[in-house]
Amino acid sequence: MTTTADELREEVRRRYAESARAVTAGSGECGCGSGSCCGDETEARNFGEALYDAKQRGELPEAATLASLGCGNPTAVAELRDGETVLDLGSGGGIDVILSAKRVGPSGIAYGLDMTDDMLALARQNARDAGVTNTHFLKGVIEEIPLPADSVDVVISNCVINLSVDKAAVLTEVARVLKPGGRIGISDIVSEDRLSYEERAERGSYVGCIAGALSKGEYEAGLEATGFEDISVEFTHEVADGMHGAIVKAVKTGDPASRGLPVIQPAVSAGCC
Ligand SMILES: C[S@@+](CC[C@H](N)C(=O)[O-])C[C@H]1O[C@@H](n2cnc3c(N)ncnc32)[C@H](O)[C@@H]1O
Repeated sequence: MTTTADELREEVRRRYAESARAVTAGSGECGCGSGSCCGDETEARNFGEALYDAKQRGELPEAATLASLGCGNPTAVAELRDGETVLDLGSGGGIDVILSAKRVGPSGIAYGLDMTDDMLALARQNARDAGVTNTHFLKGVIEEIPLPADSVDVVISNCVINLSVDKAAVLTEVARVLKPGGRIGISDIVSEDRLSYEERAERGSYVGCIAGALSKGEYEAGLEATGFEDISVEFTHEVADGMHGAIVKAVKTGDPASRGLPVIQPAVSAGCC
């Protein structure tokens, strides 16, 4: 059976709403990397709170670390500065927004954007518990970012772009909201170029952050086509054969409108636990 983009997005929302409710209820959670609920020991090493050092974990409420479902640590690579405006795409339980809010200080702003109500409620509670006052959690989809053009210094994201049903729209929106010279520091699952979309889907589910992953070459081409320069996509740890946690960095310098949209969209079915 073919899954439409809307059905796939609703499946992603349902799955991460369950994860948020599980954390709120104090039980286990599952997310990226979990082909079946819930992940095993290897997944625990490759995804979530294990990717943050002890100092960072010490800055966070327990529920925020427990809710961590990422595949990297974008706050460690994004070089945030005092007074900057940061946007986290798919902010989940708020871990990277809270850490960013502390990095940019009271004169800066850290926005989190997520489509899942239960995640937004958890993130707002975690921000209150962390005592940060310069966070704003917005409801919306990363394919239509509810912020004005040229309003953000840094876009971060942790294991979310692979879940998008329209990656070209996400990159176009990121370029739109970034100020000229703005930068991205994104953690994501990325495949080696040798893997076809079907081979990626054989290695894990879409909602588990595997089947919808872009390849390294697709990421680089998509960023270039949407007006980015100084692009790098670096693998950090392998999560399945030919599939890696990766750090994606780039700087906005060009005019995306003049370049046209890249064609980057794995066509896969949801697959779920
Ligand atoms: C794998 S979790 C990662 C959460 C968080 N970044 C972290 O590191 O813990 C994915 C999150 O992205 C959100 N999400 C997925 N697709 C989205 C979309 N198209 N627009 C907005 N949020 C989305 C989900 O609701 C979920 O909270």
